[in-house]
Amino acid sequence: MKLRVAEVGIGGISGAHIPAWNRMEDVELVAICDIRPEKMDRFDGQIHARKYTDFDEMLEEETFDILDITLPTYMHADFAVKALNRGIHVVTEKPISLKKEDVARVYGAAEANGKNFMVAHVLRFWPEYMYLKNCMDTGRFGKLVSGTMTRIGSIPRSSWDGWMQDPARSGMVPFDLHIHDLDFLIYTMGKPEVEHIFHGMDYMHTIYNFGGVRIACESAWFHAPVQFRATFRMQFEKAVLDFDGSRMKICKDDWTAEDLDLNSSVEEGNYIPQSDGYYNELRYFADCVKEGKKPEIMKPQELEAVLDVIAQINAAK
Ligand SMILES: NC(=O)c1ccc[n+]([C@@H]2O[C@H](COP(=O)([O-])OP(=O)(O)OC[C@H]3O[C@@H](n4cnc5c(N)ncnc54)[C@H](O)[C@@H]3O)[C@@H](O)[C@H]2O)c1
Repeated sequence: MKLRVAEVGIGGISGAHIPAWNRMEDVELVAICDIRPEKMDRFDGQIHARKYTDFDEMLEEETFDILDITLPTYMHADFAVKALNRGIHVVTEKPISLKKEDVARVYGAAEANGKNFMVAHVLRFWPEYMYLKNCMDTGRFGKLVSGTMTRIGSIPRSSWDGWMQDPARSGMVPFDLHIHDLDFLIYTMGKPEVEHIFHGMDYMHTIYNFGGVRIACESAWFHAPVQFRATFRMQFEKAVLDFDGSRMKICKDDWTAEDLDLNSSVEEGNYIPQSDGYYNELRYFADCVKEGKKPEIMKPQELEAVLDVIAQINAAK
């Protein structure tokens, strides 16, 4: 029996989710929903999902195992709770919410209904970031000493109803952009002390201290057409991992440098999936549902820690 999936919010990021669901042979995308029919029409010929412009109608008419929420941020928690209360597993785009109390509310609904819930924090499933975590866990290059992470681009101008440029609905750079790196850092190293914050004009710079390991982050939505880039440079005792957003170089202390070869990570017994992060995160969630397992890769306490740190960043503005 195939897993039945429905998705709500067929805007920008659904362009990564729908092809990922579509590639899974054991999954059927049965229904999609968006208040703008033309957003769904662009997938005509690629998928066979029924289309809805009203979420409640989709819930009434369709039977499905998983709801994938790719709606604007401020809607995630309410839609998740509604679906969980109908006995549907839910995966939602990041962030879970702009409000910390929603973490307990959504996980409470999942618990009460015995269903799975996960936030699709894609860096946890992104091959180069998975390799970085693997190096932290195995100590292959010694201990992590310091690092920098960058995530910059221009302010999004094409979101529905301009919601991304509205602080009350998107939370702007900390919630929409920086949260990727912050969630990854908290996932891998726990909650940091925040040593430095500069936050102004949709630009922010932070230094986090994880028990003596300092990580500096820069995140920005420039009000100009700056090319998007997401990079990191992590200094271990015996190597620097230098990721420019598409290629990762491993620069070693014996003065050699090589490109990361994800094939060799299989041989080393540390399998890193080579497909894209969006496929990997949705595949992981589908496998958890199929196998009756909880998506333990993500803990509600981590999501709360992320929202605590963002509250500190916003208080410094
Ligand atoms: N993981 C990533 O890399 C990544 C990248 C971009 C966006 N996101 C996240 O994905 C989410 C969506 O962002 P986006 O860029 O796709 O936004 P978007 O504005 O392009 O798409 C949102 C869609 O929701 C639809 N919508 C609004 N209200 C609705 C309702 N009541 N019922 C049904 N549909 C409704 C809109 O018509 C729109 O098509 C955000 O939370 C954002 O933070 C994640």
